[in-house]
Amino acid sequence: TPDAWVPRDGRMVRLTGKHPFNAEAKLKDLYTQGFITPSSLFFVRNHGAVPIVDQHLANNWKLKVHGLCSKPVTFTLDDLRRKFRVVTIPVTLVCAGNRRKEQNMVQKSLGFSWGAAGLSTALFTGVYLADVLEYVLPLRGARHVVFEGCDDLPNGPYGTSQLLSWARDKRKGMMLAWAMNGLPLEPDHGFPLRLVVPGQIGGRSVKWLSRIELSEHESQHHLHFRDNKVLPMPVGPDQARAESHWWYDPRYIIRDLNVNSAIASPDHDEILDLSAQGADGTYPVKGYAYAGGGRRVTRVEVSTDDGDSWSLADITYPEDRFRATAYSDSVYGDLDMTESDTCFCWCFWTLEIPIQTIRTTRAIVVRCMDESLALQPRNMYWNATGMMNNWWFRVCVHKLS
Ligand code: MTE
Repeated sequence: TPDAWVPRDGRMVRLTGKHPFNAEAKLKDLYTQGFITPSSLFFVRNHGAVPIVDQHLANNWKLKVHGLCSKPVTFTLDDLRRKFRVVTIPVTLVCAGNRRKEQNMVQKSLGFSWGAAGLSTALFTGVYLADVLEYVLPLRGARHVVFEGCDDLPNGPYGTSQLLSWARDKRKGMMLAWAMNGLPLEPDHGFPLRLVVPGQIGGRSVKWLSRIELSEHESQHHLHFRDNKVLPMPVGPDQARAESHWWYDPRYIIRDLNVNSAIASPDHDEILDLSAQGADGTYPVKGYAYAGGGRRVTRVEVSTDDGDSWSLADITYPEDRFRATAYSDSVYGDLDMTESDTCFCWCFWTLEIPIQTIRTTRAIVVRCMDESLALQPRNMYWNATGMMNNWWFRVCVHKLS
């Protein structure tokens, strides 16, 4: 296969045949790694072959920034390093298809079946996109920033776009990154340069980034249109494939992630051995949660009676701890995040459930709410692309005793 040279971890679970490579870790493996995911277990979503970029090519990598700006420039990685403030920020990327497997079990969508590990967190090092845009001086009339990777796909290169007003807003944290967890990006994750967009679906974080264009129009790239949309529920996959007008409706675009959570322990269908537990003991239920657009998860609730009653779980945001100690300029740069409520990462939650309750329950359910009061819904929003699935997350449990 074309990617035979790309180093990959045997613990990653392939979700699509041999090629292209799309993979996630086992949810428990991912969860036990904690806040920062090792690059080897970071989920991978590739639409085609990984572009072959050796060190020589990387040293001479050219990022062309052009279009509606007064000062079009072609940057090498060294130029970016020298001209702009270098920052290192933890960001959680989430594929819009995270949890699609549940949707595909109801009715097959256009996409393949992600479990609930289609997300990962890394420390990304690079420069703020806002600084680069300031440097090239956008012209009146520019409304969108179009990004393009150099992977060669059947319908042209991978590309997508952002509203210029968002891209210029440093608080959104968008960055051009060349390193991940302190090392150069892995080939699967965009070596030598990628866009990182916190709080939005992973599809906006263009890998192998080679071109940025300031434009009057949003991206015309194939996957920007015919992917990364939540089409209305009545539009079936065949209809979506056949009638292109659905895709051109700007109302269905996805930008921010929606609020979501999952149970990482116990596993779905796990057999719990409670024999060693006293009657007044508890069983820990654990998982992750996130919200989009920099918003914070404000509550996580767990039910053992299918939503008739709920208990409040404890939430921890390791990102807060990171910020509290991130005093140096080389972390967030001139963006003061130490006082900020903005969240670019996932959080973790736990709840101790009384053994007596666990003994009699067949399913454990979780849901969360964010600061805009958006709540995960009881019912699934099935859609043709199978994206943004965030209904209550449920695991069934069985008991040995
Ligand atoms: N960028 C390019 N050039 N080609 C791609 O196939 N996939 C996108 C995005 N950027 C993609 C890309 C999608 S859909 C996702 S979810 C993220 O990259 C995944 O990033 P990762 O593979 O580093 O986890």
